[in-house]
Amino acid sequence: MDKIRIVGGKSLAGRVEISGAKNAALPAMAASLLTADAVQLENVPQVRDILTTRALLEEMGAEAEVRGDGTATLKAAGVRSHEAPYELVKTMRASILVLGPLVSRFRKARVSLPGGCAIGARPVNLHLAGLERMGAQCDVVHGYIEASTEGLHGAYILMETVTVTGTENLMMAATLADGETILDNAACEPEVTDLAELLRGMGAQIEGDGTRTIRIRGVRRLRGCRHRIIPDRIEAGTFAVAAAITRGDVEIANCEPRLLTAVLSQLSQTGAEVVLGSRSFRVRGRDPILSKNVSTYPYPAFPTDMQAQYMALMTQGDGSAVITETIFENRFLHALEMIRMGADITIDGRQAIVRGGRPLTGARVLASDLRASASLVLAALVARGETWIERVYHLDRGYSRIEEKLAGLGADIERVK
Ligand code: EPZ
Repeated sequence: MDKIRIVGGKSLAGRVEISGAKNAALPAMAASLLTADAVQLENVPQVRDILTTRALLEEMGAEAEVRGDGTATLKAAGVRSHEAPYELVKTMRASILVLGPLVSRFRKARVSLPGGCAIGARPVNLHLAGLERMGAQCDVVHGYIEASTEGLHGAYILMETVTVTGTENLMMAATLADGETILDNAACEPEVTDLAELLRGMGAQIEGDGTRTIRIRGVRRLRGCRHRIIPDRIEAGTFAVAAAITRGDVEIANCEPRLLTAVLSQLSQTGAEVVLGSRSFRVRGRDPILSKNVSTYPYPAFPTDMQAQYMALMTQGDGSAVITETIFENRFLHALEMIRMGADITIDGRQAIVRGGRPLTGARVLASDLRASASLVLAALVARGETWIERVYHLDRGYSRIEEKLAGLGADIERVK
């Protein structure tokens, strides 16, 4: 299995190009199941989760071509199976995104129930409750969600917790339902808006995406279209922290800084200099790094997907910072690996107290999930000596060529087969 070797101590400088957003591309690929026409996507990132989704679509009988230039052509004309098998769902929870489109267009679906995962329980009860409100029957049989309907109808759905893929699943399901659906307490994440944009291109009638109330008027059929995936705000945020933690000077290009307002304002508070452009921004790391508390919340607040990376930064802070994780109950496993690198972190329930100013030293570390892996890469960039990051497949699920991009900025990093 591949490993990544990093020798810390290099200050990063230069320009890095951000790829398309994984978490926007995954629902976009699932949305292609809503029509028999071809859906053309651009700016699809070259990451493992995209290949897993391609395999899932192909397994159902759809044509799915994903090219090296970031374009993809998806055509769900010949779908013969409505099943997402356990083997694929266990490697990628986002497979649940095929549930809404399948039930809506084919009136049935069999999707493996995702189990627990490294960051928390992550139930899908709200996806199922929403589909039931729209007239589907959902049962869990032999570890699979079996959903069927005689035809979905519009409904008023109040989601008790803000859920990103839950909102996306129900929004997709509602596009072909009979009548109007209102999703209340919906997720406002830019990836939800990007999906709404794609669905409108396919002929769906959607209003209010980007706010807490989304209205969808069902239509009889959707058509193919061409859509460009938004840039990955979490990848951009990860490189922003890389610049700050190494006291570097990095231009983060081909992104949308307005989607990163909370992250960039937090970084500024820690002392980094952030200069905004329209499609890029520049981060200059400064000494000292100021320790500042942060709490994760749904968009537009500070994202849970940046919490681990921010923790790496705070290990280098000038005091103590309290990091509160409100979205997932078990998303601090990276702290235990950072402690092995010399960090001083205490976990108390949903809070981590990070005492800065301790020099980190390289170690063999093992990441538990995608963003945890990214945070260990960041810690390694400032650690003394050599760090070996194992289970690199987590990184490969969501970061496109991260070692090449960091090496391009001057990091001493290599992938060892
Ligand atoms: C999406 O996961 C992202 N994944 C995650 O990205 C991200 O961390 C998360 O949203 C939060 O922003 C994709 O977009 C593919 P949720 P999702 O449903 O949709 C609870 C990454 O590293 N909940 O918004 O699965 C849930 O337990 C990742 O790229 C219910 O209670 O997350 C959690 O506490 C990992 N019942 C909260 O809602 C439900 O039915 C938010 O989770 C659904 C969710």
